[in-house]
Amino acid sequence: MAKFIIQGGTKVHGTIAVTGAKNHALKVFAASILSEEPMTITNVPEIEDIFRITEILEDLGVTISHPHRNKYVIDTSTITKRQLPKKLVPKLRASIVLTGPMLARFGKVIFPHPGGCAIGRRPIDLFIAGYKAMGAKYEEKNGVNIFTAPNGLKGARFVFPTVSVTCTETLMMAATLAKGKTTLVNAAREPEIQALAEYLNMQGARIEGAGTNEIVIEGVERLSAGVCEIIPDRIEVLSFLYLALAAKSKLTITACNPEHIETPLQLLKDAGAKLDIKETSITTHPWKTMKPIKVVTREYPGFPTDGQSPLTVLLTQIPGESEVEETIYSNRLFYTDMLNRMGAEVDMHTPQHITVHGGTPLRAKVVESPDLRAGIAMVIAAVIAKGTSEINNIYQIDRGYEQIDKRLRSIGVNIKRAKV
Ligand code: EPU
Repeated sequence: MAKFIIQGGTKVHGTIAVTGAKNHALKVFAASILSEEPMTITNVPEIEDIFRITEILEDLGVTISHPHRNKYVIDTSTITKRQLPKKLVPKLRASIVLTGPMLARFGKVIFPHPGGCAIGRRPIDLFIAGYKAMGAKYEEKNGVNIFTAPNGLKGARFVFPTVSVTCTETLMMAATLAKGKTTLVNAAREPEIQALAEYLNMQGARIEGAGTNEIVIEGVERLSAGVCEIIPDRIEVLSFLYLALAAKSKLTITACNPEHIETPLQLLKDAGAKLDIKETSITTHPWKTMKPIKVVTREYPGFPTDGQSPLTVLLTQIPGESEVEETIYSNRLFYTDMLNRMGAEVDMHTPQHITVHGGTPLRAKVVESPDLRAGIAMVIAAVIAKGTSEINNIYQIDRGYEQIDKRLRSIGVNIKRAKV
């Protein structure tokens, strides 16, 4: 167990580069199962979630080499098992994305429910409905889900009653090897989905419409070897942007794609933030006045739920009343109790709606990292709070941010990792 100790009240400065996107990399690792030939993946973030999916793949019999930092070569020709390991699955909710490629390639997959998490209920009903629509037989036995399709999956028309990112990606991957045409209606449109489809098409898949809400996939017999570069992590860009603005500092964020965060950037510009936005970098500037912000989290291209908690820390510094409505997850605002203990004034009207009475200085405290994004929010709060804060349960932060302490030190943050 480890914690961060942060001496706050400082500015940040200089340049920080963004890593590859966790939520693209995890799906590309899963996509490796679709082909018997090896896949080379670059710009992979070195984060705990990637270490967990690596362990799960290795448990299945996959051969993974890691020739150097941020590069992985995955060879799934050695897979022996059809069952995801019971012990490892609960450590990685996103392991559900492995089930589609397994079912499509082997006609069978067995897996436990990946479990809920701190941010809310995490059902898998859409995955079950999707596989059934594609002709798989479903059985739940001794607490595990068993899907079989001995003659392969069949193309189908599937309408998502709720927009789901991982389910869109999982069914899209499964459909690449199904017989016939699959149409996914009311699909999610996140940039990571489009990037995944582009990669699969380079391997020989026939996917059209990824990035829109209707994706059409013509199944093919096999996918070939591939090389994939992970796209920049748009949530990391937002985390650094809100950190720099909360600390009223000049910071240049590089290796990013501002096109993927148009809605959050527009909100900041409307609030009066001065940003220099270039093709692959964004520079923030210290500010004297910013206007309060009203934000509602939505599916892409709306404001991302994963950017909500780091933004809220910035809102505590903007005088006036800001409003945050979280529509994607039921439990993703409770970290604001910790912000209040640090001196923020956040009123919770319902578990999914808060008002932030901004312009209050924050005080250092000992806090927890309840989940990945609330964890980074706590780091931002500690950087701007006067005094020494401690953040516990930082495994949650390490799940999604590569060497965050070292990288933050390089922009002037006084942060240490210590044993609990
Ligand atoms: N949902 C269902 N049934 C299902 C699946 C989802 O009802 O079978 C509901 C969820 O309960 C939720 C809504 O659909 O209310 C949307 O969730 P979604 O399925 O889109 O979330 P996800 O695919 O599990 C991904 C990211 C999350 C991100 C969300 C929303 C990955 C690995 N995870 O999750 O990322 O918050 O999309 O954008 O891609 C994070 O990185 O911190 C993170 C939580």
